[in-house]
Amino acid sequence: MSAMTSRLDGKVVFLTGAASGIGAAIARRCTDENAAVVCADQSLDGAAALARSLGPKAFAVRCDVTDSASVQDAVDQGLRHFGRLDGLVHNAAAPALDASVLDLPEQQWRLEVDVILTGAFLASKYALAPMLAGGGGSVVFIASQFAHVATGKAVAYCAAKAGLVHLAKAMAVDHAGDGVRVNSLSPGAVATPRLLQRWPDLDAANAALGPDHLLGRIGKPQEIAAAAAFLLSADASFITGTDLLVDGGYATR
Ligand SMILES: NC(=O)c1ccc[n+]([C@@H]2O[C@H](COP(=O)([O-])OP(=O)(O)OC[C@H]3O[C@@H](n4cnc5c(N)ncnc54)[C@H](O)[C@@H]3O)[C@@H](O)[C@H]2O)c1
Repeated sequence: MSAMTSRLDGKVVFLTGAASGIGAAIARRCTDENAAVVCADQSLDGAAALARSLGPKAFAVRCDVTDSASVQDAVDQGLRHFGRLDGLVHNAAAPALDASVLDLPEQQWRLEVDVILTGAFLASKYALAPMLAGGGGSVVFIASQFAHVATGKAVAYCAAKAGLVHLAKAMAVDHAGDGVRVNSLSPGAVATPRLLQRWPDLDAANAALGPDHLLGRIGKPQEIAAAAAFLLSADASFITGTDLLVDGGYATR
């Protein structure tokens, strides 16, 4: 493990989908780099358990990213607790259903698009004003390799993630002059509860999915968190409107 830096010293980050997998790893990496993190999740129990394990630099809030009032309340609670906001990471995604357009129930389409895309819109809507008040900041949307290349039976997920990448670009145009950078980050397959529930164990997931990645394995949540911390930090001060593929080379061929 490389030595941690304190690149995020004094920063406050609002993080959606914090309770599990990549979100939990991002929360841990941010606090390791001296940021304070508002751990927002629809599961308050999950977010609270994570925050307890991270200590006073983490604060748990319940937040359903599809619900405007819930997002506004979660951002307000975070602001009251930490007093400022410098970063937003929208990481939440609903469990996806394997289906083509023929089989996908309309309600499931709406759920996946709502959590991924409308969630990014709402989180940005309420988090941007305090970021602007503090002089600027960094927004990171967790997208997917499937924003770039399609995969079977994942129409809502692929479409919503592609939309998320372009939403970041559109917001980057609007807010560059305000000192806010907006980027997306596209992981390949990563060993999280979301992914591992499809396989008996990590070895089975690696055997099945590893060969799709140039590096021959799936990723670790910590590898995505390291890239998110980079985009949040001043090390990425000349990066806006881009997508960072952290996919072990999945989308390269
Ligand atoms: N794991 C992978 O292989 C992989 C690959 C590419 C992209 N991603 C993306 O990374 C992100 C995190 O994935 P993960 O594997 O850690 O997922 P996960 O399922 O382990 O965690 C998702 C979190 O989002 C929360 N959430 C779901 N709906 C919500 C809502 N309406 N409001 C607030 N929170 C909500 C869940 O409670 C959970 O804590 C997702 O955006 C996912 O699409 C994951």
